[in-house]
Amino acid sequence: MDEEILQLLKDAPSAFLSGWEISRRLKVSRAAVWKRIERLRASGYEIEASTRSGYRLVQSPDLLTPSEIIPGMKTKWMGKKIHHFQTVDSTNSKAYQLALNGAEEGEVILSESQEKGRGRMGRQWFSPPSLNLYLSIILRPIIPPPQVPLITLMAAVATADAIQKFSGIIPQIKWPNDILLKGRKVAGLLNEIHSEMDRIHFVILGIGVNLNTDEKKFSKEIRSIATSLKIEMGQTVSRKVFLQSLLLEMERWYSIFLEEGSTVILNAWRDRADIKGRQVKVTSFGETVVGTAIDVDSDGALILETGGGKQRRVMAGDIEYKK
Ligand code: BTN
Repeated sequence: MDEEILQLLKDAPSAFLSGWEISRRLKVSRAAVWKRIERLRASGYEIEASTRSGYRLVQSPDLLTPSEIIPGMKTKWMGKKIHHFQTVDSTNSKAYQLALNGAEEGEVILSESQEKGRGRMGRQWFSPPSLNLYLSIILRPIIPPPQVPLITLMAAVATADAIQKFSGIIPQIKWPNDILLKGRKVAGLLNEIHSEMDRIHFVILGIGVNLNTDEKKFSKEIRSIATSLKIEMGQTVSRKVFLQSLLLEMERWYSIFLEEGSTVILNAWRDRADIKGRQVKVTSFGETVVGTAIDVDSDGALILETGGGKQRRVMAGDIEYKK
């Protein structure tokens, strides 16, 4: 019902709406209306109350609730259904459950914070409340399972483009799918798949973007390697506006992938990663490989030249640029 009252107030943006009118339309008591108004205020809505005229919505907080996000959304289908939570263990786990229960392609799971935000290689993802974006998108592509790594590359390209359009700063993709601003990580992707040998049931695109974390809020371990859009842009950013443009880029690049195929995605990824010819050190499952990066193949694997004309294909790991 909070959402319904909010909608009534939004539909009358410059005018007051009397408590009597709200209670009549929602068929609840005036006391119940008052209680809900207080609840909305507690979650950050500025609502003016006048004994003569009723209630007027003055300002909305930067919340990621469906009623805040969906009206300004420019996508055709992605994010038209949003599941919003105050906290979850991980939006990826929540999305996985919802997808198993039939949630459709394009549904988005958002949380203000995560208790067990998951990163790549079994790491944690720093997920403090109400500052950043933690979301998972459900996709149900009709493609052969071996093509799924291309979706990960596609998602990295879309996230990088959303960041560039929003901030004006050119990001770099670091293999496999870290997004860096001025050499520090601003966003990461963790994608999960549920499939049979020859059929994908769904893919969960998990995306974390540091939007408003201040430098001192990052733990000592990651302070020198992590950043946020606020740090780089010197101003607080609207999570709502950023999310709307991220979903628009994601929908655009996903359509490009489905309609035009792998080459366009690989080339877009290569342009933004600029990895060819760089000296890298790769740590993969406790093993370290040093070499010259040659390319990334359509499985998302990194191809390295390790000396003496030998090549090595690395499927997963972390890289460090040597120069
Ligand atoms: C990485 O290690 O770079 C990947 C980080 C992915 C974090 C996001 S936040 C939303 C989604 N839910 C999770 O638990 N992880 C991903």
